[in-house]
Amino acid sequence: MDKKAKLLPVAIFISGHGSNLQILIDQQHQLGIEIKVVLSNCAQVFGLMRAKKENIPTIVLDHEAFTSRETYGLALKEMILPFCIDYIVLAGFMRILSADFVRHYAGKIINIHPSLLPQYKGLNTHQRVLENQEAYHGATVHFVTEKLDDGANIIQAVLAVQPTDTVSTLANRIQMIEHSIYPMALSWLSEKRLKYENNQVWLDYQLLPQSGWVIS
Ligand code: GRF
Repeated sequence: MDKKAKLLPVAIFISGHGSNLQILIDQQHQLGIEIKVVLSNCAQVFGLMRAKKENIPTIVLDHEAFTSRETYGLALKEMILPFCIDYIVLAGFMRILSADFVRHYAGKIINIHPSLLPQYKGLNTHQRVLENQEAYHGATVHFVTEKLDDGANIIQAVLAVQPTDTVSTLANRIQMIEHSIYPMALSWLSEKRLKYENNQVWLDYQLLPQSGWVIS
């Protein structure tokens, strides 16, 4: 990354432990990003400590204080606007964003999900993969649309499920691959190598397949 190039201003939304957040904090300048703010919907989460330790501004916006997804979305927008960010990076944020919020940041929100999307949207992906005796599992970075876990894929890392795998071994191995693909996707964004239009993604002017860029 050219040191003089402008860093891409991002907000990171979390709800928990924040291991993906930590990787992005550690690598932010190499990746060409600047984490302007970390927002959580829960006050007591370790991810907030990680941000505070680095003097990154934090916001807690408790969804339970709002009567609807829409009013929560409006408050989120108001809190985030002053930080003038270009992208919102969801890293274990366990709330579905309102349609209005997603439209406001159309094409500017990315998420990481522990499955090979479009397979296994939603929760408990490791459990469901094991129950269905899948041969492969993985993690996906994708653009966010109004539908849950549904936007076009940017990058996907695939791993083979072992006969001895449990929910916990899969969770550990998936997190390890998440920690390499999320930084990769962010560096592509900061280097302006990605284009997102009509729910399709181009990397270096090449249209990516539905899976996104695949690493196995
Ligand atoms: C990750 O596994 C991610 O795929 C999912 O939430 C988890 C967040 O983990 N969306 P962490 O808080 O980054 O450790």
